[in-house]
Amino acid sequence: AHAPWPRKGDSGTPLTGSLLSTGRGDIFTINCSGFDWHGVDPAVFQGVFARNSFRPVLDYNSPTHVNISFTLSAILEVVSPGSTLQWSSGEQWYHPFIRWNPEECGGIRHLSIATENLWLPDIFIKEFMDVDQTPTDLMAYVNSEGQIKYNKPMQVISICNLDIFYFPFDKQNCTFTFSSFIYPAERMVLGMEKEVQEILNMSQNLIQKQGEWVLLGIHQTASKMTVGTNQYNQIVFYLAIRRRTRLYIINLLVPSSFLITVDALSFYLAAENDNCAAFKITLLLGYNVFLLMMNDLLPASGTPLISVYFALCLSLMVVSLLETIFMTHLLHLATTQPPPMPRWLHSLLLYCTSSRRCYPTDPQKGNKGLGLTLQEDRAQKQHLVSLWVQFSHTIDTLLFRLYLLFLAVSVVMVVILWNT
Ligand SMILES: *[C@@H]1O[C@H](CO)[C@@H](O)[C@H](O)[C@H]1NC(C)=O
Ligand SMILES: *[C@@H]1O[C@H](CO)[C@@H](O)[C@H](O)[C@H]1NC(C)=O
Ligand SMILES: *[C@@H]1O[C@H](CO)[C@@H](O)[C@H](O)[C@H]1NC(C)=O
Repeated sequence: AHAPWPRKGDSGTPLTGSLLSTGRGDIFTINCSGFDWHGVDPAVFQGVFARNSFRPVLDYNSPTHVNISFTLSAILEVVSPGSTLQWSSGEQWYHPFIRWNPEECGGIRHLSIATENLWLPDIFIKEFMDVDQTPTDLMAYVNSEGQIKYNKPMQVISICNLDIFYFPFDKQNCTFTFSSFIYPAERMVLGMEKEVQEILNMSQNLIQKQGEWVLLGIHQTASKMTVGTNQYNQIVFYLAIRRRTRLYIINLLVPSSFLITVDALSFYLAAENDNCAAFKITLLLGYNVFLLMMNDLLPASGTPLISVYFALCLSLMVVSLLETIFMTHLLHLATTQPPPMPRWLHSLLLYCTSSRRCYPTDPQKGNKGLGLTLQEDRAQKQHLVSLWVQFSHTIDTLLFRLYLLFLAVSVVMVVILWNT
């Protein structure tokens, strides 16, 4: 045999004689005498196991082809900066020194071998940010052709760039780059064990309806990464996931909308009512408690649109409270010591309210009469008061309409932004 190894001296074991006998040229076949109905005599694999520190190749310049795959089983948490996913990753490669003839070896076609006895490809995910929770002492499946299948369950904590602006209607795109750590492209070539569509279907079946996230799609690209003078094979997977929004609609949007609706409706409380301000303060307090409680549901980093929406609602409530204070002050002023009403304001008021009520008397008219009786004076003041009250109510209505307009515009804008 012209293959540089294994040399007979290294690989032979006293129990089975020559373990790896050279077949045709560079094909090594395991001597079946160790296979019987008890299973496999460990001695026949001694030569293979003894080499587990080295990449098993017949020609050191030829690359090892490793096919990879994974099946996502749960999307546990997607937060910035680390997202936790649970998956089972698969690797497949050929071990050229493991090969037997199943017909001669009692029909045995597959064997499971403890992975500690085998060389394993060092395939890492570049986005890893935490020690993965892969259990050790796993088994690998080997068939008579020397094809090794190695599946391991993993809990992956990886960096996933989140764009939470559209929270809770956000879609995320997480990247996973599989690459060998030390073997450049001429030593290790990465391939796909199955089609991405198959990976997607299996993952979607497993994830199903549980959890906060829905798996939308998986895309895959193969590329080469250059580090220094070496090129490394890498396969990049993009996971497109979407948040399930029902929880957030029920817990965030519905209560917030109720509170802001009540605040808007509170304009219908008579401004003369002393409880009006107290009512609005209570509402404001309630909203703050709501915000405090909902803080846990919001993403910890970044400013999502929904925070802006909450801030807007809060500002509207504050504005509404300020308006009440202003109206209370105005009404108080109007009923206790009404200042003379400027002529232009009076005309404006008449103009604004003409459609509803008519005030034919001019408030300034009373000023010219000096010999007014006390009763006339009181009637005059009464009239002035009613004019000012009228004015206050007009202002109140105007501010309410402005408030509604602003509220409507902001809600429409937020909804439009969410839908893009
Ligand atoms: C396998 O080993 C046995 C002894 O253990 C030997 O008699 C037999 O010739 C060997 N077979 C091959 C193909 O080398
Ligand atoms: C890897 O995939 C390629 C193409 O799908 C296939 O030809 C090859 O046999 C696979 N290798 C292993 C070790 O399964
Ligand atoms: C995810 O992002 C990558 C680039 O960062 C892009 O090529 C890919 O199409 C994106 N996938 C989806 C589903 O948006």
